[in-house]
Amino acid sequence: MTNVRPHGGTLINKFNHDTDTSMIIGEIMLDSMALSDLELIANGAYSPLDGFLGKSEYESVIHSMRLLNGTIWSIPITLPITREEASYLQLKEKVKLVYNGEVYGIITLEEIYEPDKNNEAKKVYQTTDPSHPGVKKLFERAELYASGPITLIKEPEKNQSFNHYYLTPRQTREEFNQKGWKTIVGFQTRNPVHRAHEYIQKTAMETVDGLFLNPLVGETKSDDIPANIRMKSYEALLNHYYPKDRVFLAVFPAAMRYAGPKEAIFHAIVRKNYGCTHFIVGRDHAGVGDYYGTYDAQKIFEQFTEEELGVTILAFEHSFYCLRCDSMASSKTCPHSNEFHLHLSGTKVRSMLKDGMTPPKQFSRPEVIDILIEEMRNQS
Ligand code: ADX
Repeated sequence: MTNVRPHGGTLINKFNHDTDTSMIIGEIMLDSMALSDLELIANGAYSPLDGFLGKSEYESVIHSMRLLNGTIWSIPITLPITREEASYLQLKEKVKLVYNGEVYGIITLEEIYEPDKNNEAKKVYQTTDPSHPGVKKLFERAELYASGPITLIKEPEKNQSFNHYYLTPRQTREEFNQKGWKTIVGFQTRNPVHRAHEYIQKTAMETVDGLFLNPLVGETKSDDIPANIRMKSYEALLNHYYPKDRVFLAVFPAAMRYAGPKEAIFHAIVRKNYGCTHFIVGRDHAGVGDYYGTYDAQKIFEQFTEEELGVTILAFEHSFYCLRCDSMASSKTCPHSNEFHLHLSGTKVRSMLKDGMTPPKQFSRPEVIDILIEEMRNQS
């Protein structure tokens, strides 16, 4: 195992597919976000959580970004249930966790409580605007929260087009060990990797043993590029531009929250659990629209000591291709004015791709673009 201590000290393991559910009557219907959270609690990615948060833990996370025992935790992991479901459930009893008619796990029900979602939105997302995709999702989910420790009985379906990229934190730690890596930088992404991503990854790779490319492949907003297409683009990029023995690709099957700074903390902690010693936070990490300042997701880490966080944050400036430097750069390394800098928004790139147009190679590697264009054509 790598030397990185899991968050809170112990890598949680709550998977037991022999659990007998035949005597359990109560049921809670999971949405896809809760199903992915169930798996990630069980496999230790969310260590030290061993279940869905109870009321006082939930409030502590929202107000102070800490669990009740002081451990840093910034995103409430909750299990929404309807009032109707609640009316049939008994506290202290085991309840089946069901998705699409299949039992995926059980929870020992400790509490059912009514959250103040407006307050959750304000604190976690810094806005109550229903057009924010994370806030929209928060309000769409059922109105009560159930809490208690869980057991995962059946692993959720993997996306068949990249099923061999699903690894548990135990497995990634083992991989890093076998490679002899002592320092590993984690990279979160929900987009095809473009040149700015590649630049900050490779800058980080100059000082660590390996890169853990860990794209999020759970639920994302509808205009983000689908995970199966993104995975092909990552494979193409790694095949053509990265040394094979210095990169490891595996997926993070969580839902995207778009919570900017608070999600950056969560992303860093989870990658620590996967075995990373370092984590990259660039411009507007996990942001959407104009809800967060460009570097808010970096500044938020100033509130914690590196020791209590347990993972080193590598913060990167907004990077771009500079036509005068003839290379990738940032304001830290490039003296030229904006007119020489190539900036393309994700929206602009998506619309170019849809029209079969090729974004310039200074923005994205041609091998990646070819895959995106072809896949988008196949899917339309
Ligand atoms: S995210 O929502 O998963 O954070 P994205 O896939 O766009 O979005 O970004 C992945 C990581 O790269 C994040 O840490 C983000 O801050 C960083 N990043 C994206 N674009 C740039 C850029 N042009 N310059 C510096 N960092 C960037």
